[in-house]
Amino acid sequence: MSSGSRRGGNVYREPGSAAADLFERARRVLPGGNTRTTVYSAPYPPYAARGRGAVIVDADGEERLDFVNNYTALIHGHADPDINEAVIRQLADGVAFAMPTEHEIALAELLTERVPSLQQVRFTNSGTEAVMMAIKAARAYTGRPRIAKFDGCYHGSYDFAEVSTQSSGKPGEDGFPVATPYTGGTPQAVLDSVVVLPFNDIDGTERLIEQHRDELAAVLIDPNPRSLGLYPAEPAFLQRLREITRAYGIVLIFDEVISLRSDYGGMQSVLGVTPDLTAMGKIIGGGFPVGAVGGSAEVMSVFDPTGGPPRAPHGGTFNANPVTMVAGLTAMRKLTPAEFDRLATLGQQLRAGVEEVLREAGVPGQVTGYGSLFHIHLHQRPLADYRNSVLSAQERAFVGRVHEALMGRGIFITPALFGCLSTPMGVPEVEAFVDAFAAALQDARG
Ligand SMILES: Cc1ncc(COP(=O)(O)O)c(C=O)c1O
Repeated sequence: MSSGSRRGGNVYREPGSAAADLFERARRVLPGGNTRTTVYSAPYPPYAARGRGAVIVDADGEERLDFVNNYTALIHGHADPDINEAVIRQLADGVAFAMPTEHEIALAELLTERVPSLQQVRFTNSGTEAVMMAIKAARAYTGRPRIAKFDGCYHGSYDFAEVSTQSSGKPGEDGFPVATPYTGGTPQAVLDSVVVLPFNDIDGTERLIEQHRDELAAVLIDPNPRSLGLYPAEPAFLQRLREITRAYGIVLIFDEVISLRSDYGGMQSVLGVTPDLTAMGKIIGGGFPVGAVGGSAEVMSVFDPTGGPPRAPHGGTFNANPVTMVAGLTAMRKLTPAEFDRLATLGQQLRAGVEEVLREAGVPGQVTGYGSLFHIHLHQRPLADYRNSVLSAQERAFVGRVHEALMGRGIFITPALFGCLSTPMGVPEVEAFVDAFAAALQDARG
């Protein structure tokens, strides 16, 4: 990328590296040196110095192709010139006001034009808040207290949404998933407020929803959950979920915080099912902190302050801050249908390339994903059942060795081998990934 950088080697792991020193400093003032659980990797992570386009450079000067893209948020990679220009222009005009701006209207207009379920939108500062406000809106709209969500699915850190983020792995006496705390000390009242559903199991899901139909405000689902290995909700399952939630007056919430990057209209347009509310985040902020909840004007009316105090009050000092709004608008405008198609073709090429490497190497594995997203699984169990995505200790160790080898070969990817493409990438980056994966597999097998 620039002089002084080199590709590969994992220098950051060596004693006396810049990362080792920074981690020592960090441990004194941040618990475990960490302020974002997802970016920790043992014994300590590399530290970022800078990024440009598809490349990230760590504090030890190592360049890697970035297939993490800040956990899918950076669909245009790093330091996109158009986004930078828009942000710099906004910086000169002021970064935050206790007044609305035209920019929030423009971004809301763009989203409502593209995503089928959206008639109206509200902005938040993170995906966590978007999911939280969707749940609160559903409660305010229905007057009901409980929600249902799927076992093993991640939706951010709101108490109710994080129940059973990590599946207990074992069904309860009734054969259904058990509401399991994710954070220590979660009140029993929170666990009791959440009905945990089995993903892609139509009969089980229908029975549980029917049983709790009069208390349920919402069913929350990520249509293509990363935490379950990017195995999507099956169309018949999602269709049935739509029918029963509609029949029982339950608000159906899609969490598209990640999956919105799958297609011009989000994953809902691919799957052909329209929820009542959609939680968004990541790509819609152009790299800046963001979230949004949107949906039908009828449900979204719970936020409307014009007729007196809204049923769901929603403040937020930095909601729709103009820096995020102009960055998001610029990022989203660059994402034309043709650009989504190009990314999807590249994604398909990467997934097929990795599958071929696995086949040739005789290593059991499979690759899931849609559009620009991919997840490499080093086992061949069917993924449709959420329980099968749980890895054995041996499988975890193998994935860890492949991850380390990829990092050493100039590929930045999540420790779970989940990744995504960005628009600065093309065929050369995809080929570099597939070649590095073939070599990393050899390294990891020893
Ligand atoms: C599916 C999903 N929902 C919600 C969130 C929370 O978003 P944020 O990290 O912006 O709070 C994430 C974050 O990765 C996510 O993947």
